[in-house]
Amino acid sequence: MKKTIACILIVLAANNLSAQTYNSAKAKELVGKMTLQEKASLVVGMGMKLPGMKLPSNGPVVGQTQDKVPGAAGTSFAIPRLGIPSIVLSDGPAGLRINPFRNGDSSKSFYATAWPVATLLASSWDTAMVKKMGVAFGSEIHDYGVDVILAPALNIHRNPLGGRNFEYFSEDPVIAGNMTAALVNGIQSNDVGTSIKHFAANNQETNRNTVNTIVSERALREIYLKGFEIAVKKSQPWTVMSSYNKLNGTYTSQEYDLLTTILRKEWGFKGLVMTDWFGGKDPIAQMKAGNDLLMPGTPNQTKAIIDAVKDGTLDVKVLNENAERMLNLIFKSPAFKNYKFSNKPDLKKDAQISRTVAEDGMILLKNVNNALPIKKSMHNIALFGINGYELIAGGTGSGDVNKAYTVSLVQGLSNAGYTVDADLKNVYTNYISEEHAKHPKKSFFAEFMNPTPPVTEYVADNDFINKAAAKEDIAVISIGRNAGEGRDRKLGDDFNLSDTERTLIKNIADAFHAQNKKVVVVLNIGGVIEVASWRDDVDGILLAWQPGLEGGNAITDLLSGKVDPSGKLATTFPMNYNDVPSAKSFPGKEFPEQATTGNFGMKQIPAEVTYEDGIYVGYRYYNTYGIKTAYEFGYGLSYTIFSYSGLKLSSSNFNGKLTASVVITNTGKVAGKEVAELYISAPTGNLDKPSEELKGFAKTNLLQPGKSQTINFTINSADLASFDTKLTSWVADAGKYTVKIGASSDDIRQTANFNLPKSIVVEKDHKVLVPEVEIQELKGK
Ligand code: BGC
Repeated sequence: MKKTIACILIVLAANNLSAQTYNSAKAKELVGKMTLQEKASLVVGMGMKLPGMKLPSNGPVVGQTQDKVPGAAGTSFAIPRLGIPSIVLSDGPAGLRINPFRNGDSSKSFYATAWPVATLLASSWDTAMVKKMGVAFGSEIHDYGVDVILAPALNIHRNPLGGRNFEYFSEDPVIAGNMTAALVNGIQSNDVGTSIKHFAANNQETNRNTVNTIVSERALREIYLKGFEIAVKKSQPWTVMSSYNKLNGTYTSQEYDLLTTILRKEWGFKGLVMTDWFGGKDPIAQMKAGNDLLMPGTPNQTKAIIDAVKDGTLDVKVLNENAERMLNLIFKSPAFKNYKFSNKPDLKKDAQISRTVAEDGMILLKNVNNALPIKKSMHNIALFGINGYELIAGGTGSGDVNKAYTVSLVQGLSNAGYTVDADLKNVYTNYISEEHAKHPKKSFFAEFMNPTPPVTEYVADNDFINKAAAKEDIAVISIGRNAGEGRDRKLGDDFNLSDTERTLIKNIADAFHAQNKKVVVVLNIGGVIEVASWRDDVDGILLAWQPGLEGGNAITDLLSGKVDPSGKLATTFPMNYNDVPSAKSFPGKEFPEQATTGNFGMKQIPAEVTYEDGIYVGYRYYNTYGIKTAYEFGYGLSYTIFSYSGLKLSSSNFNGKLTASVVITNTGKVAGKEVAELYISAPTGNLDKPSEELKGFAKTNLLQPGKSQTINFTINSADLASFDTKLTSWVADAGKYTVKIGASSDDIRQTANFNLPKSIVVEKDHKVLVPEVEIQELKGK
């Protein structure tokens, strides 16, 4: 007995010791023991294994761990003599992207869950749900032996054509930041790390490695940095990934004021910064800027760092600090703890969570004539559109996931007991297989360099449509869109529907309406499209986004009314592309005469984009300038009705803090959840202000008919402040503030005023990242 207690005490002491031992003092001590070669190896990744590329050989310190988790995006070098393992970094935002098979052995798979994409998560406005998903997501990362997930991604949806918008949350930084924090807190609760990306002002894919983003200090602080600030402060991600672009003249990975002055000194970030893959140009400038890890890493970078220390252009103290941050990260990693990962995540359980989250973030855009939910008596569905037979679970590139399956809409409908018109099913599935046969599957890299064009919509003739209209109860048309890193979307046949798609919708609508039958469109898209020109043709529109591997089941649950739609737009649907405030300046100017050749022989064209829209991004623009939108920010319908009442402010004078409470009641006939949005209209002092800005949001619990819930919001002085460039400070102007609580940015249900007697300087910041040229910015009205 005594022996057992003694043993337990020794084990406890040892554990305690290891927790205490591996801290920043230990990191310093270990770096002190390293050779220059070892330090330089630690801050440069092991390279990337691509067809035709040789693995780097960086000398004797290396443990070969490139294939620790096949398909992961990168690994760090091990230093076995000091007990430092290699750690594994892997994509991405919608799920763990690793190879599903290893060494050609198809008997064992390594699939991961394809979660709904970030745009859908944001549309849930449900941080508790997103955190729950993060917990499950993190456990897969842990179970597969990965140390850091290269996610979440939270760049602002500045323009609907942004090729990676599906990986990002919103046009609004408060949503983007809070969603990121929820996901990071969920993932990191599994003792694995995250890398929030791409820091910063990386809002397009065109010329992504060369483009210089020219943006005002105010727009940068209020729009493009704000989400990262919220995420860092609320969740302390283990790492941050700098972006590919330049920001006001300097590559972000080489910008000290971004990575050190703002991120670390102003916001208190404690972790490591890594580059995006092959991002930036100058490894020495990157080290000095505080970009501690260069990914995926090349032998030339290691050599440049060693040479620079030797010739005095890089102070070894800087390198020591970068190496220490790398060690602090490694100390926290599962690899360092020698975690024996199972390679067996609970994919079944996670698929269910993925489905629930998908249902929470889909948005009912239109519902007239009681088209939805589909009535119990209607079992027979005419499913049109190739997308109905092949769901897009998520986008392409590093944001893609190797999943075991994707539930298509046709499968989802059948699973729920609907009968889908068999003729349609045959015609569509045959057409899709024929089209796919024309384009054999390519490797990830080949696909990235030269994407396979999407299958064009099947041209359904009127006979075919009329037959279905005569037989079936309702028409469902599914329209899909895909995109991914490396290129932005196009206006024609992408943002705007193709002629075939428009004709299809029109002809189906005519045929079904002639029979007094309803027509519903499902949008399986990653980013915003044009809807205003065709929406009048149909009775219902469900925006399913890219909903992950259980998508078909989730869509069906909403169409059938098993689940009440409760998502709302976190990004505006404009009437047409020309209304978008960045339409004129996106994606900027190119300087082709200065083109060079970059990695993998890719042409690099210097370019610049000037953010002339300033702070007037998304609803901040549409609302302030009174521009009509197709569906405004914050919009989304439900099968029930919610009333808002009893808005109370804790005080009518602001004194450092204020609370607002409102009662939400389900006055309709079915159970549902409501998203309540809190906007503030601030007085104009020295600065122009958007007509209103989102400062808080909450989703109710599932409310049964007749039930109410009180929602409480806290308003801090930071919520009242705008960035005053002249003072380099966040200033809350004295005057009358209006709190607006509503069901969308255009559907305000309750308002109340409070007064700020005297202006407050809420925070004084550093004068940094100043644009080199004058910007002709929008100034509000
Ligand atoms: C992407 C990153 C990704 C990295 C590793 C880059 O091309 O921009 O988001 O994490 O590749 O795959």
